[in-house]
Amino acid sequence: MLILMTFSHGPMTQPLHPTQLIDRFGRTVDYLRISITDRCDFRCVYCMAEDMTFLPRAQILTLEEIYTLARAFTELGVKKIRITGGEPLVRKGALELLQNIGRINGLKELVLTTNGSQLDTMATALKAAGVKRINISLDTLDADKFKAITRTGDLHQVIRGIQTAKSVGFARLKINAVILKNRNHQEVCKLVQFAVDNGIDISFIEEMPLGVVNQHNRSDAYYSSDLIKADLGQYFTLTASPEKTGGPANYFAVAGTQTRVGFISPHSENFCSTCNRVRLTVEGRLLLCLGNEHSVDLKQVLRTHPGDMTILKQAIVDAMLIKPEKHEFNIHEQPVILRYMNMTGG
Ligand code: GTP
Ligand code: 5AD
Ligand code: SF4
Repeated sequence: MLILMTFSHGPMTQPLHPTQLIDRFGRTVDYLRISITDRCDFRCVYCMAEDMTFLPRAQILTLEEIYTLARAFTELGVKKIRITGGEPLVRKGALELLQNIGRINGLKELVLTTNGSQLDTMATALKAAGVKRINISLDTLDADKFKAITRTGDLHQVIRGIQTAKSVGFARLKINAVILKNRNHQEVCKLVQFAVDNGIDISFIEEMPLGVVNQHNRSDAYYSSDLIKADLGQYFTLTASPEKTGGPANYFAVAGTQTRVGFISPHSENFCSTCNRVRLTVEGRLLLCLGNEHSVDLKQVLRTHPGDMTILKQAIVDAMLIKPEKHEFNIHEQPVILRYMNMTGG
């Protein structure tokens, strides 16, 4: 079901509050994830079909439009912006955009999620642009498996990227690993050991049913966070940590190390009651929840009223009225959400 809110000044409006975005359930939204491209140099099996069609240029937001939206959200109380994709660093002009967003008054944290393929060459410039933290997707340390999961990626290039990012001074780098049974579940201890050896953090993610994938059955591939914790418990001592990063992960400290292990468990431990985020797709659609279709077309608002910050901000404030209470993922059925993860960057 596609739920679209057309922008109006009718009954679906609420008064413009100048500094905060609050939804119907009393949740304050202060975290915006912006996907700046749907394109990617990888084709991860849980994220994309092998043969993808990407959006034509006219349909995507320009860098100026993305910047304007980032400013509007920051003026409405957003404190953290995460740039994602697709692979954000393959978009021409990504660095300049990051620099500009990094300078917006009131923004506390500009962060990035990347597949790591460009980090070796771009890490220094990203640091200079004001990026505070980087999360890097890495599901396996076996080069052949890496190739099989990403279809096109080179493990060594990503590992070099992680090491370069560390050497130029990025603190609290984090690996994201989507764990699939019988594909990489056997590697969770090795991945944590890699994080420990490199002084970085790691989050394990339960796969979400977004878009139709053809290489595995999502129900069969489900490997819960509890199973991962049990596997890790044989080699590491994990202690629950109260630390939060503003994202959905629950963290554990690995005794005797600097490393934190996070678990993002959309199926086994719903975190929607504390949701603080919304997503902007590269088409300019504001998605109110990753696991629902509720959205507002902000590109249309921008292009119908160019330069009008008041109308844009009102559309964003009004959009909070249709933020759903929770996602409705069901890995045992065909996905209801046909959009692939490359439209939202997670
Ligand atoms: P931190 O700022 O380090 O906490 O990062 P983060 O977890 O917010 O961002 P990251 O890009 O590393 O996201 C990791 C994964 O968490 C995403 O790819 C999604 O799979 C999942 N995730 C993030 N937010 C949500 C959410 O609101 N709902 C669901 N279902 N999953 C989410
Ligand atoms: N389920 C869970 N996580 C996913 N990612 C991509 N597709 C999926 C999915 N279907 C993760 C990537 C990356 C983050 C942005 O989203 O591994 O770390
Ligand atoms: Fe690209 Fe990330 Fe999707 Fe993999 S998960 S195909 S790296 S956008």
